[in-house]
Amino acid sequence: MKKDKLTAYIHTWGCQMNVHDSEKIKGILKGEGYDISDTPDGASLVVLNTCSIREKAEQKFLSHLGKLSIQKKKQPELKIAVSGCIAQQQGKKLLKSHPSVDFSFGPQNIFNLKEFLYDEKRTAFTQEKDENTDIYQMQLPTHRDNDLRAWVNIMYGCNNYCSYCVVPYTRGRERSRPYGHIISEVKELARRGYKEITLLGQNVNSYNGNCTFAELLTMISEIEGIFRIRFITSHPKDLNEELAVTMGKTQKICNHIHLPLQSGSTGVLSLMNRNYTYEQYYNKIQLLRKHVPDIAITTDLIAGFPGETDNDHKETVRALKEIEFDGIFAFKYSPRPDTRAATMENQLDDSVKSQRLAEILSIADEITERKNKTLQGKRIEVLVEGKSETNAERWFGRAASNKIVNFSPDENTKRGMAVIVRITEGFKHSLDGELVV
Ligand code: 5AD
Ligand code: SF4
Repeated sequence: MKKDKLTAYIHTWGCQMNVHDSEKIKGILKGEGYDISDTPDGASLVVLNTCSIREKAEQKFLSHLGKLSIQKKKQPELKIAVSGCIAQQQGKKLLKSHPSVDFSFGPQNIFNLKEFLYDEKRTAFTQEKDENTDIYQMQLPTHRDNDLRAWVNIMYGCNNYCSYCVVPYTRGRERSRPYGHIISEVKELARRGYKEITLLGQNVNSYNGNCTFAELLTMISEIEGIFRIRFITSHPKDLNEELAVTMGKTQKICNHIHLPLQSGSTGVLSLMNRNYTYEQYYNKIQLLRKHVPDIAITTDLIAGFPGETDNDHKETVRALKEIEFDGIFAFKYSPRPDTRAATMENQLDDSVKSQRLAEILSIADEITERKNKTLQGKRIEVLVEGKSETNAERWFGRAASNKIVNFSPDENTKRGMAVIVRITEGFKHSLDGELVV
């Protein structure tokens, strides 16, 4: 096959795990001679890497696929592939309902992509824990979209079965990657000039690859060249003092944690099968703040879980005010296939979910803005990323807290540099500052 004119476009929905999976898909395609394009125009292969966490993500994918299918009528040689979490759950059905789809594979079968490009085998969805599959996945070439910040998988899958969540059905059982593999990958990234590493897993702090998560963080912090370490996502039930202490004493570990609360009501948390009470969550926040006083804490919340009463919702609002998160992601509850919550009684009307979501977002936004304003006058270390997209004269970077900081550069400012910025103004979604010389 002539390989030099092939172009692929990969469209990604969903979490960082999916974004990183797309980097692996691109890595394989590059190895097979494809150019990777930022637009579908002129592509000979389009991969739709899907998310099924909420119905909205699924609708967006279906509408995208509909448009592509029309395009394929005009351009029959166009290949369409569907990967990711929707593929895992519904890939076989999808091939029947959408004949335009050439092949489909789940998140645990990315390594099968190479063979699909050349033969007629059209699906692969590993369901069970399979060590061989994991080893193939770990060794995939990766086309990294960013030359400064790199994602590194430390574990796959999830065993928690939160009653609303599809992840255990799409990404399988929890498996930790042996720490030796992770360390080698990070050393190689450091050698290639990456400054920031984000460790990825559905539940990173339940990592168990022959050492604890805190031990893994310590080992990574000893790798020369790596300047910052982040991790997502953590589960409150597995958050322990060892991690809080390690975060507090290890300079390179960023002072940020994303710790999904989901609801401020212990009753709802129990229906969600979260395995903690609000009080226990609050105590973990106290523990983190004790060991890492300037820690930024962000969270996820679900509005309108089945059976959530007005009072339960008030408890979530109270939790927001009590904890004062630096930022939140909040979503209307969305029933998902195979999950227990989808069949629970007392599913709420969309209007109730919308109204509760709006209230959560407006209170949280106010708190975020207020907290950002308290940073005014402070000196903060910023890892410079580049020119601001909205203002040609400004540059931006991130604080260790993960907040975006905009500032005016001087002649020495370069991407990848750490600079000190004095914050002049705090906004809802960013900070403004000036370089300290
Ligand atoms: N409906 C709404 N939000 C959900 N999430 C997960 N499943 C659902 C669902 N069925 C949210 C949770 C999770 C985040 C990634 O997505 O808040 O932490
Ligand atoms: Fe990521 Fe979950 Fe969406 Fe899959 S369903 S892409 S694991 S957020």
